[in-house]
Amino acid sequence: MAQLPVKKKRQPPASLPANLQHCVRFPGVVLCLVEKKMGLSRKAFLVSLAQRKGFCVEEASSERVTHVVSENNSGNEVIEWLKRKGSPFLDAVGHGIALLDLSWFTESMSTGQPVEIEPRHRLQVAAHAKELEGQCQVATYACQRRTPLEHNHQMLTEALETLAEEAHFWGSEGRCLAFSRAASMLKSLPWTVRKIQDLNSLPCIGEHSRRVIQEVLEDGESAEVERIRRSERYQTMKLFTKIFGVGVKTASRWYQEGLRTLADLQAHHTKLSKEQQAGLLYYEDLSTPVTFSEAETIGQLVREVVEQCLPGASVTLTGGFRRGKQSGHDVDLLLTHPMDGQEVGLLGKVIGQMDRQGFLLYHSIHRSSFQSFEDEAQEIRDSTTAMDHFERCFSIFRLGCFPGGIPRSASEAQRLNNAVQVSGTPGSWKAVRVDFVVTPCSQFPFALLGWTGSRNFERDLRRFSKHEKKMVLNSHALYDKGKVCGFWGRRTGGESLWYGVGFLLMIYISVSYVFCLFAC
Ligand code: CTP
Ligand code: MN
Ligand code: MN
Repeated sequence: MAQLPVKKKRQPPASLPANLQHCVRFPGVVLCLVEKKMGLSRKAFLVSLAQRKGFCVEEASSERVTHVVSENNSGNEVIEWLKRKGSPFLDAVGHGIALLDLSWFTESMSTGQPVEIEPRHRLQVAAHAKELEGQCQVATYACQRRTPLEHNHQMLTEALETLAEEAHFWGSEGRCLAFSRAASMLKSLPWTVRKIQDLNSLPCIGEHSRRVIQEVLEDGESAEVERIRRSERYQTMKLFTKIFGVGVKTASRWYQEGLRTLADLQAHHTKLSKEQQAGLLYYEDLSTPVTFSEAETIGQLVREVVEQCLPGASVTLTGGFRRGKQSGHDVDLLLTHPMDGQEVGLLGKVIGQMDRQGFLLYHSIHRSSFQSFEDEAQEIRDSTTAMDHFERCFSIFRLGCFPGGIPRSASEAQRLNNAVQVSGTPGSWKAVRVDFVVTPCSQFPFALLGWTGSRNFERDLRRFSKHEKKMVLNSHALYDKGKVCGFWGRRTGGESLWYGVGFLLMIYISVSYVFCLFAC
């Protein structure tokens, strides 16, 4: 994305040094070339090239500099160099003075004028952990941090996530949380951790995580993590828990019984629930990631059926795809209708119709267990459960893939299906996990927020509400002292309402960050 041209902090004086006056074509741009790593002779060559093209070039001691250009240096190295030179414009770096890579210089030289500065031209300055602490830039709660999908610490977070997964496989939820928090923290850092000391002032990174991070930084891998990845138990647990309907307890029991492969489950006539049978049957498809375009297609097909069943009802793609992920393990759809109460009975009709049309390979509907906001508030007080009580359906969707590609509508899918049956040519298709959730319109914003994830984000949003705002949030409403408040829940009036309104706005601001988000 193109950025605004660098804001000039100081205007160069009307009269420039005599030796430059004749050639200056761009008085608002004063270059400073960093000789560190570039070498003096190359610098001299580049300076003369720039001057011939009509650029003004000055030394680091000049107050007039607007663009600092360097080659093969990091932003921090340039800052260090400028400090050593006693540069007078150091404080203005980033606020009027740009730190640029040579690519900006060469592009400007070849176009014959200063090109617009783009993010790729800028040198990133990693704020030091101490400075970050001072500036409170790394927040403790994941919901206060921006967590981009692409980040600087892939190897470290993969190692920590393996440890989190292994802890989960042993039922150690506390340890699982600690590792996954540490991973989430690393994902949000705008700078790159290069040595263990860089972590000194960061919250959420415990001793064990630190040890593993240090090992990966120094040796490129962690012996503990590699041992886990190779271990038979970890691999078997991963295999079994990927079966739809199989949790850690079941997988662990099967492992203890000596089962190791999917074939073992069949060979030993292991008792499986209907859900698990379907999970096993479509194992290969279900362990293949769902793409964003597949998710959109399914969303569109469902939207058509929903419109037929209840005109005006809406279908929103949520979960990982709403966070901008390009692939996921399932498709999460949130159904509602603009009039509260109209949504009752919708899910049964939609699922029934899709089942008759051959779109569903498996489904199980769970009725809403929502009683009242008061009961919800009581439940939250009594336990820390994050479960909501919406009506939902966990399903396996049959996404037809025909020679012409994926059908774009339910009617087209139906037509292609029939044509394939008549012609006898087998159509190819893919089994995809789809979760349907239905919410009354009045709870829609909370449901949308709750079902967007990530789990780390949701967990920390609830912790933030509780500890920092003394309020309680779940996927149904926001509660202030046990009473519902906010735009959409039942109003309690007075201050708590406006407090809730402000808080909801805050939540939505946080959620808007989620769109470049989160693998956390
Ligand atoms: N969720 C929930 N209750 C459940 C299941 C899920 O509230 N019983 C919420 C969680 O907050 C979760 C979100 O719905 O973050 C989506 O869940 P899931 O599909 O499991 O995870 P995704 O983040 O969508 O990851 P993926 O892309 O792999 O599907
Ligand atoms: Mn999902
Ligand atoms: Mn899901």
